Amino acid sequence: MHKVQEGTVTRIVVVGMKPDLLLTNIGQLATLANTNGKPKTGEAMRELSIIENGAVAVKDGLITAVGTTSDVLAQIDGEPVVPQIDLPDMLALPGFIDSHTHLVFGGSRENDFAMKLAGKSYMEILEAGGGILNTLRATREASKSDLVRNGFSFAQRMLGEGTTTVESKSGYGLDTENELKMLQATEALREKLPMGIASTFLGAHAIPPEYENRTEDYVSLVIDEMIPAVTKEDLAEFCDVFCEKGVFDVDQSRRILLAAKKAGMKIKVHADEIVPLGGAELAAEVGAVSADHLLMASDDGLEAMRKSGTIATLLPGTAFSLNTDYARARDMIEMGLPVALATDFNPNCANESLFFSIALSCYKMKMHPREVVSALTINSAHALDRADTIGSIEVGKRADVVVLECPNPEFLAYRFGVNLVHTVIANGEVVHTKLGP
Ligand code: NIG
Ligand code: FE
Repeated sequence: MHKVQEGTVTRIVVVGMKPDLLLTNIGQLATLANTNGKPKTGEAMRELSIIENGAVAVKDGLITAVGTTSDVLAQIDGEPVVPQIDLPDMLALPGFIDSHTHLVFGGSRENDFAMKLAGKSYMEILEAGGGILNTLRATREASKSDLVRNGFSFAQRMLGEGTTTVESKSGYGLDTENELKMLQATEALREKLPMGIASTFLGAHAIPPEYENRTEDYVSLVIDEMIPAVTKEDLAEFCDVFCEKGVFDVDQSRRILLAAKKAGMKIKVHADEIVPLGGAELAAEVGAVSADHLLMASDDGLEAMRKSGTIATLLPGTAFSLNTDYARARDMIEMGLPVALATDFNPNCANESLFFSIALSCYKMKMHPREVVSALTINSAHALDRADTIGSIEVGKRADVVVLECPNPEFLAYRFGVNLVHTVIANGEVVHTKLGP
């Protein structure tokens, strides 16, 4: 037995035992190790701690050895190991972490797309009863098992694209019963999938039709009924709010988030997505773990986030689907804000693939592919407050590894938008591979 110290967390790891999976001769193994329990910022976002000709040993779902192939083979006393997977010319990374999605919902929105093509904005479509309200109707009609079936299919596709941990928000039920139904469906998915799932309560995602022109009453319902019901069943680790003009203003968002915090939830904010409202400032003020979107965030708001240690989670797929400008990733990285990336997979931004987000990040937000790797791994782990167990390839962490048909990280930007996955290991299991049976 030996103790691994990481940040404030100490875990006991068994070493010297025969692994149950061994990856060897990996062309480049980007471990993202040694970050002292902090997210990466500034120039450090380009440092990936790469081991050439690397190897990873796995036992009982955990990483038990990391190093060059000869080092790791020496550590396991040369015992022949089955299975051993040789991965020359490939790039292995910590499994991707998609830290902002709306994974569970009913229906689909291809009909809204016609309005979008006719030039209607996101808020105009919502005001016309489409958008979130369209999905609200389908989600209320869906049974819990319908929601599980849909979410399972999306999550399976994510796994095949290298995502080994996903966050999932509620927010299409918008009454206590249906919000709980969504969160219970998320719970059920956790039992069915090898990936990690973080659950977020987003009861303040829109005003449901029965509360039209009574936003304050709906805020009271969220605070007085939904938050206690969600915490009673321990259904969500985070609480999020769509803080936006015409949805929940800063004061209403603050009251909801503080109530959730008091009830023991951690905080996320959909901040400054469509108009600059002060969502970034609010996220910093309430000590949010992350503020997400930030397309319109002010300099003061970003500076406040930097001071409070709030992660900036950027969602370029949303900017693409809204056909708007992209978030100012370069400014954020240069000012020292920790940047994470996620898909925002939802019925409006219906794309599960982080490869699409990687392409947009590099082409549209001018992020360097190495910064993108940090953003999708260790920084996203911090955005989910799970950096002690995932986000890097280090002894004692969960064995989540994505192996890509890439000779180096730069190739990720060059081969844009396609799934480059060769093998995915989630929780120590090979869940996808091109090696064949
Ligand atoms: O992150 N803006 C609010 N929520 C989602 C969109 C949800 C939807 O349109 O269904 C977002 O963009
Ligand atoms: Fe979202």
